Amino acid sequence: MTTDAKTALLRAGIIGWPVGHSRSPVIHSYWIARYGIDGAYDRYGVPPDQIEAFLGRFSDHGLIGCNVTLPHKQAAFAACDDVDEVGRTLEAVNTLWLDEGRLHGANTDAYGFLANLDQAAKGWDKNPGAAVVLGAGGAARAIVWALFSRGFDPVHIVNRTVEKAESLAAFFGTGTRAHAWDALPGLLQTANIVVNSTSLGMAGNPPLEIDLAPLPETSLVADAVYVPLETSILKAARARDLVAVDGLGMLLHQAVPSFAKWFGKVPEVTDELRAHVVADLSKDG
Ligand code: ATR
Repeated sequence: MTTDAKTALLRAGIIGWPVGHSRSPVIHSYWIARYGIDGAYDRYGVPPDQIEAFLGRFSDHGLIGCNVTLPHKQAAFAACDDVDEVGRTLEAVNTLWLDEGRLHGANTDAYGFLANLDQAAKGWDKNPGAAVVLGAGGAARAIVWALFSRGFDPVHIVNRTVEKAESLAAFFGTGTRAHAWDALPGLLQTANIVVNSTSLGMAGNPPLEIDLAPLPETSLVADAVYVPLETSILKAARARDLVAVDGLGMLLHQAVPSFAKWFGKVPEVTDELRAHVVADLSKDG
């Protein structure tokens, strides 16, 4: 692990564009204080036309590592000397660290998705069957991989732009199927889990309005959106007494392996941390 020679302060942060909305500093700063680490975690806005240069000279920035958010996850993957298995599969990384001058990368998004469900809905993957993933962007890619890793098959990818669903299904191959939105009522009839990875339902965007009536009563509904915490699809799921899991836990859990890698301590996702981040989110009204 590298330290700042003058201050011995361990510096990490998040790079993205824009990056002002990111709650990662709230999470990591909470853990830095909680575990008494001589560290700091800040936001670094890096425009797309500067990302290659920024990553190419990573050791110049005084960072032991960083998180990577939109739109830089693929560029970060390309810049790494070494990438973990999930990052290689997804061709995108959200965590970087320097080790003896080499830039290492990992993808912890899939881990975050799984660890959240493991904590919030224990036993959710006991009888994996069909899954429905709404959306076909970067978040969907990590979630589809995560569901496969727990034995869900088939994984149906449903997207407004069906070509994007097709290209994501082709990326994963056997076990995935691409569909347009109008296939949903039929697909829901046999779905053990439905996950929203679109931006629908997020504050400022239109709500995600789908009829959950066809879902079996044992189905789980998860949302990757966490602003607001209680999205319309989660409300509809709870109204049917289905297990409903919000997206904040995914954000909290994806931060765990990053923090452990940089600061040498596996942090805990507690109710107190969750309340701390919820309080910060509420500042935005
Ligand atoms: P991320 O990397 O966070 O997944 P993204 O790549 O921009 O973000 O993906 C956003 C997803 O939300 C896409 O699946 C997008 O559908 P399209 O591929 O058709 O664009 C979906 N999405 C965004 N706005 C939508 C809307 N109004 N209706 C339906 N889907 C929408």
